[in-house]
Amino acid sequence: MEVDVAKSAGFCFGVRRAMELASQTAEDAKGKKVYSLGPLIHNPQAVEKLVSLGIGAIDSLDGADPGGIYIVRTHGLPPKIIEDARQDGITIVDGTCPFVSRAQRWAASLKADGYQVIVVGDPEHPEVIGIVGATDDTALVCRSPGDLEGLDLRRRVGVIAQTTQTFENFRRCVDKLLEKAEELKIYNTICTATTQRQEEAARMAREYPVMVVVGGRNSANTTNLAELCRKAGARTFHVETMDELDPAWFKGVKKAGVTGGASTPSWIIEGVVKKMNEFDNEALGVETNEEASKESRTPDEPAIEPAARPAAEAEKDIYSETFRSLSVGQIINAKVVQVQNDEVLVDIGYKSEGVIPLAELKDPPPAAASDVVSVGDEINVYVVKLDDGEGNVVLSKRRADAHKAWEYLREAKAKNETIEATVRERTKGGLLVDLGVRGFVPASHASREYVEDLSVFVGKKLPFKILELDEGRRNIVLSHKLVEEEEYLKTKKETFANLQEGAILDGVVKRLTNFGAFVDIGHGVEGLLHVSEIAWSRVKQPSDMLSIGQKIQVKVIGIDRENERISLSLKQAMPDPWSTVADRFQTGQIVHGEVTRVVDFGAFVRIADGLEGLVHVSQLADRHVAKPSDVVNVGDRVDAKILNIDPAAHRISLSIKEAHGALNQAAEKEAKEAVEGQTTEVAAPNDNNFTSLGEIAGNIDLPKLDRK
Ligand code: F3S
Repeated sequence: MEVDVAKSAGFCFGVRRAMELASQTAEDAKGKKVYSLGPLIHNPQAVEKLVSLGIGAIDSLDGADPGGIYIVRTHGLPPKIIEDARQDGITIVDGTCPFVSRAQRWAASLKADGYQVIVVGDPEHPEVIGIVGATDDTALVCRSPGDLEGLDLRRRVGVIAQTTQTFENFRRCVDKLLEKAEELKIYNTICTATTQRQEEAARMAREYPVMVVVGGRNSANTTNLAELCRKAGARTFHVETMDELDPAWFKGVKKAGVTGGASTPSWIIEGVVKKMNEFDNEALGVETNEEASKESRTPDEPAIEPAARPAAEAEKDIYSETFRSLSVGQIINAKVVQVQNDEVLVDIGYKSEGVIPLAELKDPPPAAASDVVSVGDEINVYVVKLDDGEGNVVLSKRRADAHKAWEYLREAKAKNETIEATVRERTKGGLLVDLGVRGFVPASHASREYVEDLSVFVGKKLPFKILELDEGRRNIVLSHKLVEEEEYLKTKKETFANLQEGAILDGVVKRLTNFGAFVDIGHGVEGLLHVSEIAWSRVKQPSDMLSIGQKIQVKVIGIDRENERISLSLKQAMPDPWSTVADRFQTGQIVHGEVTRVVDFGAFVRIADGLEGLVHVSQLADRHVAKPSDVVNVGDRVDAKILNIDPAAHRISLSIKEAHGALNQAAEKEAKEAVEGQTTEVAAPNDNNFTSLGEIAGNIDLPKLDRK
């Protein structure tokens, strides 16, 4: 038979804490008598163990020995009884589970606010008696929805659950109250440990035919567990110890489940499991390792009872641990055991529970505690107060985080290290970042480049250098710009080291000036593209050819490593137009171009991109020209004849005069051909249709200079 044990079986947080508290109290008693008020937990075997430590159980404080020490059990007591006893000089050690204390506090505050308090639970149970006591005995108790029938309730009702209630019963009672109350405040005080234990037990009971539930018969949560398992369909046996197990329960069973109540010591559960495994082995007739070891034992060697070793180990676990001593300002480790909306309860291994109020959880305080921590999280906390008046240790996660953050920042500043932090918000003068503590980045240190709207950084994780660190004034000033600067200088150095003259690189135009453009050739490294290197033809203003942000390819034509200057050329990254001029143009060809410059000795005409020719003053017109500007102006579109091409000298000679002559001749020829064609066509039918050459030529639009 396979035996599966529930992970949640055994002591819960509250019971373990109470047992540790009792053990420590007995150790520190210095001869005083120690009593628990009622059995400390609902498990006879665990109570026996306490007796062996000198802790007896008494039923009430009536006639209590003022020299004794009295431990309140996990279920708690009505607050008034504790208060009266303390006033009578009786030493009380409060072992009430923090979750039960919480239920008492909520009940008291509901009552103070004028609500009718209803407790869903067992009216005889000490926990419920304590909660009712917290309301000066005004709370009503219901076991089930049926108890609420016929009750005359106040308009405003507050409902609280016994921590070991099933959620189903609590929900049904709440449904009933919703029908009756005008206003209902619901406090689900069912302990999460209980819920988890119940859910796991029900799941196992649906899976396995037999469930064994281990724990005291006087334990409400163990009894509830057994009931749940039965309802989920498993044959369920509630036992206190392994001695009650009967092999007949497991006949034909291949797999059985075991769970235990919150007050069941682990050694008892382990004993039960061990014995169940033995049933299986006996039924199969297989010799177990245990039996084999009995056979091989020497006669002098003492026999070891099967459960003796686990029990001893479990006792060691429970009793050997001592409580932590605490002092205000100390930073300690804590485990989250419950997360409420407005506070978090943590286990700190101390005689009292730790409470972290919402405002002490994070800076700024979160909307809900569950946004920051979850049950089971291990966190560091700062001790704010040892007792908040209700026996709780007040703790702060925020301050522990801040302490850690300052330590880290001090070290980073000393080593000039770069730190990382998330930008939380933009303020008037800069940015606020979250370092566990608040840091400030002045606007001038947000970036090495101008950024118009700093909110682009909000939500981003960025690297920073620490400019100022003043713990006394809580002042942390950071710079992102310095990190960028450092990065830029490093990259620039690398870029210079790898840069080769003649390399063709991708670049982005960053700035334009009269004398050229600054081009980023990667990682913020800029080179100068002089105006003379922008195009093969003459460029007057860089902005005529380029715009900021334009992507271009440039050739590296000069590197001044000493002064860290780079010269770039755009035109040299493109083919030289003079290298193909002979293929594209011939002497005698008539071309159309634009006058780019007019000088004393003639005019320059651009006939293609990067190619300009000179029309000498003598070639401007078929008459004497005193000043070239009398005939042409910059921007004029003209026809010109190519007189000569000299690619090596980058020279082309042009003539407007000859172009006109040629064009006029061509026009005359064309006109003549047209007249001849017309005469032939019209002469035959009618002589009156004859048109003179002059008339026809006058209608032809001859080529001439045109102006823009
Ligand atoms: Fe406390 Fe929950 Fe245990 S209420 S005693 S931790 S079951």
